[in-house]
Amino acid sequence: MIPSDLPADLLEHARAAKGFMPEDEGALLHRWARDRLPHGPALEVGTYCGKSAIWIGGAAREVGGTVFTIDHHRGSEENQAGWEHHDDTLVDPALGVMDTLPTFRRTIADAGLEEQVVAVVGRSETVSRWWRTPLSLLFVDGGHGVEPARADFRGWPHWVMAGGVLVIHDVFPDTADGGRPPYEDIYLPALASGAFTEVDVVGSMRVLRRTSGNAGDPLG
Ligand SMILES: C[S@@+](CC[C@H](N)C(=O)[O-])C[C@H]1O[C@@H](n2cnc3c(N)ncnc32)[C@H](O)[C@@H]1O
Repeated sequence: MIPSDLPADLLEHARAAKGFMPEDEGALLHRWARDRLPHGPALEVGTYCGKSAIWIGGAAREVGGTVFTIDHHRGSEENQAGWEHHDDTLVDPALGVMDTLPTFRRTIADAGLEEQVVAVVGRSETVSRWWRTPLSLLFVDGGHGVEPARADFRGWPHWVMAGGVLVIHDVFPDTADGGRPPYEDIYLPALASGAFTEVDVVGSMRVLRRTSGNAGDPLG
């Protein structure tokens, strides 16, 4: 396991936050964010309750920079009632639907990262349609179904700047380990585009560096 060098105060908050980010993968995210943030903003697709945003935001606190994190805060399919990753405490009692935004806000405020981590509330596809800013680091951890994964591939990786990195979570080449869309519909097409080269792997996390083209250029 890669030792974490996230400052101790933030490590406690990252450990306490609700979410799906094992510590070795969080440490990887933190290292790459620290390396890339001096070159431009980072963007995360899939905020949930802010656990991974603490790892990236911690890097922004250390080296400067801004982390945008996008989520409609209504949860993915697997977060809905009756599914494996449902958490009843995240349901808005008045609306009867998931709302992870209040928990995210509290998590980031408690961690002292409100200056570094900026929430964008909405559908990833809607935001990507209007996005025009080159990214130093893109972390894709949104909807894990085929359609959301394809939409995230269409909408985001071409905004990674030359030398920037695309980090993808839950990449499982072996079906026995987990769902396929992040592997088949984001990771493989990114490599096939010829614009990205794999530079790091920890657990289900893959880090691809943009080695041809520049932000905004279409892929492949
Ligand atoms: C796996 S969770 C993110 C976990 C988070 N990165 C962490 O490590 O703590 C996926 C999140 O993506 C969000 N999501 C799914 N599809 C989305 C879409 N099309 N647009 C915006 N957010 C979406 C869900 O609401 C959910 O909170």
